[in-house]
Amino acid sequence: MQSKLIFQNHPYTEGPRDKVMLITRDLVAPFIYPTPEIGMDCSDISYIYVSTEEFTASWYTVAPGSRFEPADYHAGDEVYFVLEGTLTMLNTSTGQTVSVHEGEGLLMPMGTPHIGYNFGTVPTKTAAFLAPKIFADQSFPTDTIGKMKVYKHTDFGQPYDTSLLPARAGVLDDLGAWPVEGAAGRASNLFYHVPENRKLLAIGGVDNPVLLKFIVSNDFLNLAEMILPSGGKGARMTDPDSHEGDCAIYMHKGCLSVLIHDTNETFQIRDDEVLFIPKHTTYQLFNYESEPQHPLICTVKL
Ligand SMILES: [Fe+2]
Repeated sequence: MQSKLIFQNHPYTEGPRDKVMLITRDLVAPFIYPTPEIGMDCSDISYIYVSTEEFTASWYTVAPGSRFEPADYHAGDEVYFVLEGTLTMLNTSTGQTVSVHEGEGLLMPMGTPHIGYNFGTVPTKTAAFLAPKIFADQSFPTDTIGKMKVYKHTDFGQPYDTSLLPARAGVLDDLGAWPVEGAAGRASNLFYHVPENRKLLAIGGVDNPVLLKFIVSNDFLNLAEMILPSGGKGARMTDPDSHEGDCAIYMHKGCLSVLIHDTNETFQIRDDEVLFIPKHTTYQLFNYESEPQHPLICTVKL
């Protein structure tokens, strides 16, 4: 439906952004990266759910055998969660190369230039969350064109220190600085791969426990996969929660029911939909289905 995406202003076109909003397929803005002026030889397609001054929630596809180019970088941290396929990311400034498999995460701190490759046979599907801004203005960076460090080819290089890369899983007290403290990560020129054995696992709730698997928790954003089980005496649910920052809940597959306490509104988030929840809104998640539900929860502040 959307013909022209405006970064930092989607799907709301005017403020204030203080209403809970279900972003269904007809409100999603697709965009092809990059532009004809830059060159269309190697492109990808993204689907933007919400983009504000605080954060952006989206997913994108790299077709089998292809890549996007030139290298992209952002005016915020970018966090991936791979939903389907295997995405191989090149940090063009250091040559660091990471294959991110289904269910794994990746933090690319603000300004880190990256190209995504699909060496597999199925399209990759990757949820991407950025905070605070996806781009400084409405245009894509072009200063990365033709500059990269790969095997036997170096025309770009930045210093880096691999001692910052985590060698263990996160623990609860790492919340706010996982997989690296925000500013240190941004100064490091590195990617931070978060496979299953590096995620920060936490039990969410005493009476209504859910499993939270944090990919990233820093001063810009928090991204966790939640495992909300099925079954139970009543429908399984979370404890009520609210956040100090805006929140997006993305469902890859399934159905998640959401009760907004202040207004008594009920929303259901289904395949490839996002619920935007403004800061300070108390909400509770319910699972009325037969299978556990796996929402991705992204919030600017916990
Ligand atoms: Fe990016």
